[in-house]
Amino acid sequence: MEYLDRLSAFRAEKIGLERDGRVRLVSHEFRWKRLFSDEAHLVYDFLRLEELRLYHCGSTSIPGIAAKPVIDIVGSVPSLAALDEKKAALEALGYEWKGEYGIPGRRYSVLYNQEKTAGYIHLHLFEEGNPEIERHLVFRDYLRAHPEKAAAYEQEKLRLVEAGTPRSEYTEAKAGVLSSLLAEAEAWRKTGSVLAILGSAPGGKNTEAFLREKYPGAEVVHLHREDVRPYQYGEAGEHSDAFPGIVEKMLGADLVVFATPVYWYAMSGPMKDFLDRFSNLLRGKHKAYGEALYGKQMRLLSTGYDDRLPFGFEVPLASTALYLGMDYFGAEYRAVKT
Ligand SMILES: Cc1cc2nc3c(=O)[nH]c(=O)nc-3n(C[C@H](O)[C@H](O)[C@H](O)COP(=O)(O)O)c2cc1C
Repeated sequence: MEYLDRLSAFRAEKIGLERDGRVRLVSHEFRWKRLFSDEAHLVYDFLRLEELRLYHCGSTSIPGIAAKPVIDIVGSVPSLAALDEKKAALEALGYEWKGEYGIPGRRYSVLYNQEKTAGYIHLHLFEEGNPEIERHLVFRDYLRAHPEKAAAYEQEKLRLVEAGTPRSEYTEAKAGVLSSLLAEAEAWRKTGSVLAILGSAPGGKNTEAFLREKYPGAEVVHLHREDVRPYQYGEAGEHSDAFPGIVEKMLGADLVVFATPVYWYAMSGPMKDFLDRFSNLLRGKHKAYGEALYGKQMRLLSTGYDDRLPFGFEVPLASTALYLGMDYFGAEYRAVKT
């Protein structure tokens, strides 16, 4: 989507914070998550860094609470040096590259309007493993899981705005409440239930062995044992097969692991058939499932003969995750020489 079309899409959903020194809060819009997904997908596509991970964070990612009308995206790259080489690509997408901008190890970029009088997207990128990423995510997840805490946080923000707190003091003024919520969030962090979707061909053993080792408690769905039919256009394609039930299980799990061997440099056929069926989650009677997948955590687990995952292997899953607004945390891979 072109720069100006993106800006008008943001404005239509009340995104855009004027740079006039004041703080403005707007009530939550259901469609903010779609704006995040669209933008994150575009950034992923433009930067062409296979291992770039992007997550919706900040107040616009917490349903129900008022927020400054700016979409925050936090993400990781394998190396800042690789990201620095992509500065021109990010600028071509309309972002202003600001470098660290006060936080060591960060690369901060902002999408403004043409006149630079309003900001739309704040993009905060760090090197993989930087604790700042986890901090943003655990805070968000804690507030999503505890609406009463989210409401208390919102009250504090509204109080500051009503008191006329200028933007230059706003972040500092809510630092106290933010750090106590963050401490609670870090204590809360849970190791939840895991559902693994396994795409090996009948008789395949390696991927399951690696999966059982990594996630001993996981419930495993063997796709080749399930009646998951290939995607078909139209209402006739909304089969009453095993697919909707597997998606329900995904919704009930805290983490979904997509486990697939490498077959001819790509995911296995059963896994691809399964992913194609996600088109059934965008419209029709299963649309609500697609909406509900937003924020769900997922990983990829794979085995193959070669020493590394083939180039591009993660892109379909990482892109699908961005499309649906799922949090994709990358791949675990084992080379098996048998
Ligand atoms: C049809 C087929 C295609 C394969 N293609 C690749 C490949 O492109 N790259 C690779 O590293 N290994 C390839 N392999 C090896 C498998 O990825 C490897 O043996 C894997 O551990 C099998 O896992 P599974 O036992 O769960 O099926 C292929 C194996 C099969 C059967």
